[in-house]
Amino acid sequence: MKRNIPLLDLQKEYELLKDQLLPAVEEVLSSARYIMGPQLNDLSNHIQNLLNVKHHIPCANGTDALLIALNALGIQPGDEVITTPFTFVATAETIAFAGAVPVFTDINADTCLMNTDQIERLITDKTKAIIPVHLFGQMVPMEPVMNIAQKFGLKVIEDTAQALGAVQNDRFAGTVGDIGTISYFPSKNLGAYGDAGGLITNDDHLAETCALIANHGQAHKYEHHLIGMNSRMDTLQAAILNVKVNYLKEWNRIRGEKADLYNHLLDPKIEKPVVAPGNTHIYHQYTIKLDQRDDLKEYLEKQGIATAVHYPIPLNEQPAIKALNLPDNPTPVASKTAKRVISLPINQYLSDDDINYIVFHVNTFVNG
Ligand SMILES: Cc1ncc(COP(=O)(O)O)c(C=O)c1O
Repeated sequence: MKRNIPLLDLQKEYELLKDQLLPAVEEVLSSARYIMGPQLNDLSNHIQNLLNVKHHIPCANGTDALLIALNALGIQPGDEVITTPFTFVATAETIAFAGAVPVFTDINADTCLMNTDQIERLITDKTKAIIPVHLFGQMVPMEPVMNIAQKFGLKVIEDTAQALGAVQNDRFAGTVGDIGTISYFPSKNLGAYGDAGGLITNDDHLAETCALIANHGQAHKYEHHLIGMNSRMDTLQAAILNVKVNYLKEWNRIRGEKADLYNHLLDPKIEKPVVAPGNTHIYHQYTIKLDQRDDLKEYLEKQGIATAVHYPIPLNEQPAIKALNLPDNPTPVASKTAKRVISLPINQYLSDDDINYIVFHVNTFVNG
């Protein structure tokens, strides 16, 4: 019988956590501390303990987190920042929004992560930072990134929007470079019920600067030390995240189990996610590759299975980035990969029965 399988099921999650979420929300509503309430500090303590990092600074969303990080690290107009074209637009958009220039490596064909072998040849005397993106839930190999950063005196911002809780050789995503940026967008492994974001760092001075920038550069009321912005996280979102954060480790573990099941059952002709050495993948996405991607997407839709394409156009081929008139720097692996990727449903609530149904149809398609 035809099923209806969404990519993720936030309503189910709400039903399951309602008994904890509603009192947490009610506490904020009745306290009237909608801005900068104590729940923000609680959230920071949770994240610091979870990731073994000294500071977490809440902010309004993951895009602002990148912008705040670039600003706190002193990235100026005209500076160059090396990143990947195979990511959500925010990574490069914020570099350009800060007046800096995004410079793109190609990606690794297996993992879809930034090709770290290409970083060094892109460095010029204007290069100031590298933004590795821990895509789909696993970390970019950080040793080469950090070695190059050290050799050339570059800053490292880890875009950890998709990889909260991912680990590489005993270190959590976002805690290896200068600053890690987090998105708590509702669909993330730890998602708020609206926009929310955060920054993590072990550097006291950077933490203080990020916190100032996120709140109008304000150390005390109407005392402004830096040019900043309004990028505070709502107290309500922090209250929701404080309930959900307790489940993140378990949810990430379950996602890993679901991915193992897919890996085991999917036809060998399908290219499955490749995990880079030393990585614990938290499967924000379970993304496979095949040449007939668009046909498979249409076929699965007819079977009631939702899928998504992350990402159909590499950022250096997007009109908004092309309009920056960057020097021509083709990324053939990213271009080819963009035509072949498709993400299947994965989340902690997806039943093994549903996975069997999805796998049956994917395998039928590739063998048909
Ligand atoms: C890799 C990446 N970077 C940045 C962001 C921006 O986060 P937000 O949507 O919270 O602004 C996202 C997600 O949405 C993302 O996936």
